[in-house]
Amino acid sequence: HRPSAEEESKSSEDSELDLEPEEATDTDQPGANTGTTPVHLLPSPTTISQPLPVKTPVPLQGEAYAPPRPPAKPAVFIPVSRTPEIQEERLKLPILSEEQAIMEAVAEHPIIIVCGETGSGKTTQVPQFLYEAGYSSEDSIIGVTEPRRVAAMAMSQRVAKEMNLSQRVVSYQIRYEGNVTEDTRIKFMTDGVLLKEIQKDFLLLKYRVVIIDEAHERSVYTDILLGLLSRIVALRAKRHLPLKLLIMSATLRVEDFTQNQRLFTTPPPVIKVESRQFPVTVHFNKRTPLDDYSGECFRKVCKIHRMLPAGGILVFLTGQAEVHALCRRLRKAFPAYSSRPREKEEEDSAEAMRKFKKSRTRARKAQAMTLPQINLDNYSVLPAGEGDEDREAEMDDEEAALGSDLDLDLGDDALGGGEQLDASLPLHVLPLYSLLAPEKQAQVFKSPPEGTRLCVVATNVAETSLTIPGIKYVVDCGKVKKRYYDRVTGVSSFRITWVSQASADQRAGRAGRTEPGHCYRLYSSAVFGDFEQFPPPEITRRPVEDLILQMKALNIEKVSLGSSNHIPVLRVKQLQQSRLSCPITALGRTMATFPVAPRYAKMLALSRQHGCLPYTIAIVAAMTVRELFEELDRPAASEEELNILKGRRARVAQMKRTWAGQGASLKLGDLMVLLGAVGACEYAGCSPQFCQANGLRYKAMLEIRRLRGQLTTAVNAVCPEAGLFVDPKMEPPTENQVTYLRQIMVAGLGDHLARRIQSEELLDNKWRNAYKTPLLDDPVFIHPSSVLFRELPEFVVYQEIVETSKMYMKGVSTVEVQWIPALLPSYCQFGVPLEEPAPIYCPETGRVQCHRTSIFYRVGWPLPAIQVD
Ligand code: CDP
Ligand code: MG
Repeated sequence: HRPSAEEESKSSEDSELDLEPEEATDTDQPGANTGTTPVHLLPSPTTISQPLPVKTPVPLQGEAYAPPRPPAKPAVFIPVSRTPEIQEERLKLPILSEEQAIMEAVAEHPIIIVCGETGSGKTTQVPQFLYEAGYSSEDSIIGVTEPRRVAAMAMSQRVAKEMNLSQRVVSYQIRYEGNVTEDTRIKFMTDGVLLKEIQKDFLLLKYRVVIIDEAHERSVYTDILLGLLSRIVALRAKRHLPLKLLIMSATLRVEDFTQNQRLFTTPPPVIKVESRQFPVTVHFNKRTPLDDYSGECFRKVCKIHRMLPAGGILVFLTGQAEVHALCRRLRKAFPAYSSRPREKEEEDSAEAMRKFKKSRTRARKAQAMTLPQINLDNYSVLPAGEGDEDREAEMDDEEAALGSDLDLDLGDDALGGGEQLDASLPLHVLPLYSLLAPEKQAQVFKSPPEGTRLCVVATNVAETSLTIPGIKYVVDCGKVKKRYYDRVTGVSSFRITWVSQASADQRAGRAGRTEPGHCYRLYSSAVFGDFEQFPPPEITRRPVEDLILQMKALNIEKVSLGSSNHIPVLRVKQLQQSRLSCPITALGRTMATFPVAPRYAKMLALSRQHGCLPYTIAIVAAMTVRELFEELDRPAASEEELNILKGRRARVAQMKRTWAGQGASLKLGDLMVLLGAVGACEYAGCSPQFCQANGLRYKAMLEIRRLRGQLTTAVNAVCPEAGLFVDPKMEPPTENQVTYLRQIMVAGLGDHLARRIQSEELLDNKWRNAYKTPLLDDPVFIHPSSVLFRELPEFVVYQEIVETSKMYMKGVSTVEVQWIPALLPSYCQFGVPLEEPAPIYCPETGRVQCHRTSIFYRVGWPLPAIQVD
């Protein structure tokens, strides 16, 4: 297949996007203006070892009068040598029979939609079709976006393997890592990464084709990308540098893309891939178990394993902790395959800890007596410009976060002591969730050991992004853990809710990939009837400040959502010129260059002072990575395990206190714990043993290290005089630096200020030890895992509020009341100096006049009387 004549002639007008032939073939355009149909050449079933010759057409009479054009360089069919086994497997995929239709549509239309059942081969094959047809060259490559990091990594590896190419050619890029080289021709990335690239290069000139995969998931970045790309495609066409956009989705909600006239004025053609889906018999439960769906899963798997013929089992649960608990339980029940060695706690890094503490004490001795004060205007050292690399989709982390608060009673006691079942086959139990180490994730794609039955216990990553071979039985708990965000109050909560009908059907479909299968739904058909049809798009349930800032940095004037189910339509204001006169402030633009949310970007921008940058970078990196600490609140399977867990919990609590320290450092609170944990861990060489012994997640610590490196590079790029070293080891901050850091955190987290209700203000008992925030009517509390849980400072800032049994603030840090007028003036109203220093309280306006300055809080927020000189 090759790009159509029309398009070729366009691209020939600019050399930038021309497809350079690697070997000279012919010089004219085949099929161009000849009235003949272009020749479509299918790759031979196994390999193409040489570029196929293309017939040179004879120009029609009259063509000679056409205006002269530079000779077009035809696309070159790039040979791919696949192994026979791979080729055989490929040929079984339904998408192969649509190759011609897809490539013709791509040649003729700028935007096309490919939809097909999960597992039909979209993700792995379409990039290969495009590559073979010559849609990539040195300076214009094929980009593929995925909403999940797991998929971006796994798919680039898979495609490289299928094509017998190295990862230098088929590469991936996610927020923290990637293996892109100058040889890269196919680049898998998260959608957030591409969005960040648009900030640097609005027309995405590096790409010849952009594939938006898993569009049906309606991830927030995917939605925004579609809004932007619909414009970019038009702009590229105007400049005769055509960009192809392929939208790939499972066979659901295709109307979201075709019926949205504000997005695409002419609906793009849809290529449907008929999939070879085998029938799946769906079995509903007679009644819906209310709580113990995990126990119900366990019983179902046991039953299937004992009574039904061979075939893999896939269980859908909601979160990481549940997945592990069920895996453990299953391994215990079928011990023939439970030979997983339990890792031992190790204390060999105690020496490193001692060193860290000693050098911190040393540093503290050099403290100054004056009250340090940061300068709020001192951010200009970080001007607009290049800086960061990319930004990551948060999707992956959702399911892992906050497992401890949400974990239901998994009913392990129901297991009792002697529940060991005798099954003829051993059960090969594997967990699958997005924060699982990649090597462990890869296990599920391998065939299980001879003579065992595969049982994968997964979260909803297995729903559409990853297809596990050999699954015949699906057990679906019907639930999903999702992050919900209240835009008005800024409160995030993770809730376990029923899935949508579309998701339930997707899950069931996993059973019919290779042969007819069965899906066991642990809920009744009546309950299923009440499910929502589709899950709500992510954009409706997450914070958007960072998006708005990014859109501003792109000079996008307006993002309109239409109805909540629509893909955002972006109004781009005078794209080219207005870049100069953009309303975004210098601080805002600086902030937009950092690959972190605006409040963290603000902290970075303020931190050049007093040598705070390395510490802010470490804190920001740690705050961005969800859940530094291991999940230890999980239910234990045995007495012995319970004791181990208890011991580890005590150890973690003790380490948190150590890292928080005393004095100013304790006042920095949970943020000091993050800094201490990172500092200590790096002193110990960031070893898995150290992490294990101190309850830190090794993978999180590695991510923090990478993000620190990346942020350091970003800062150095815009502010060389900062001269930061990319050295993971850092000296502890001095007492003064800690105070600056506290202020920087207050400035960044300013909209997350809370004040403790004093005993004399108690309205009723539910406000005991509670805090009031400007936006919420209900009391909020310091999370029990916080080091400030017992300290109860009067003013705090928090990283986020999470609603579980109560509304809890996490990532808490103390605020000195005198700082509020300086750092957070928007909370204050400044009055004229009074003769008398006595504070005057006006109940109507809710205002307290002080000696020099009056501090004002919204009515309804209890008032402190503050004297500020
Ligand atoms: O994108 P779509 O869901 O349409 O399918 P795909 O991800 O391209 O997968 C096509 C086939 O490749 C599936 O049958 C997978 O089981 C298989 N595959 C595999 O065996 N190993 C991988 N690492 C990835 C995919
Ligand atoms: Mg796919």
